[in-house]
Amino acid sequence: MTEGNRPFIVFEGIDGSGKSTIAEMIYRHYESRGIPVYRGAEPSGGKWGREIRALLASRNSVGVKEQLRLFLLDREDDVRNNILPALRDNKMVIMDRYYHSNAAYQGALDQDPRVIIDINRGKGFPEPDRVYLMDIDTDTAVQRISARNPSGETDFFEKKNLLEKIRANYLSFSGPNFLIIDSTLPVPAVFKTVKNDIDTVFFGS
Ligand code: TYD
Repeated sequence: MTEGNRPFIVFEGIDGSGKSTIAEMIYRHYESRGIPVYRGAEPSGGKWGREIRALLASRNSVGVKEQLRLFLLDREDDVRNNILPALRDNKMVIMDRYYHSNAAYQGALDQDPRVIIDINRGKGFPEPDRVYLMDIDTDTAVQRISARNPSGETDFFEKKNLLEKIRANYLSFSGPNFLIIDSTLPVPAVFKTVKNDIDTVFFGS
């Protein structure tokens, strides 16, 4: 982050990890303090994102190469249309998933997660200032997924053995801006941990 600019923050984690809940709370917290915030998600609401969501919810299986292609097209659109304009307007950016999802998820389907990270970095997408990995065991995640979806229908990735691989991929990532958060703790405690980190690092309080 360059001097005077607002942070670009990403929440990552397996399905059922609670990342959307915490991303929403963090968004509301800073917005209510008068800070301009752009809150986004991938898959995005754009045309590629909508196509991806329809595919993931359908019973049709989609090959991993095609998944990679679609998620990258969606990210290109999202960066150009939403993320870069928000950063240029000096907004704080809060994303629910970004390129680490690509590496963790498509990397669970016989692709090398590190190669997927390199492909994304090679595209010149802006680097987040902080990535919070909401880490949770897959049993708890699967319980949460079925609690919010009692019909028993699951999306492509919401199966325990796949989630195990995705979680292992996430835990293999590291870097100065990549933080692992224990997402089995109560929501207020998780929120406080993340908020305190953002305040300390980016708002000097
Ligand atoms: P998710 O955020 O879980 O959507 P929702 O909570 O609204 O259903 O994202 C949908 C799925 O997309 C999720 O299973 C993860 C997957 N995904 C990838 O496989 N690769 C990616 O690059 C991204 C951004 C998401």
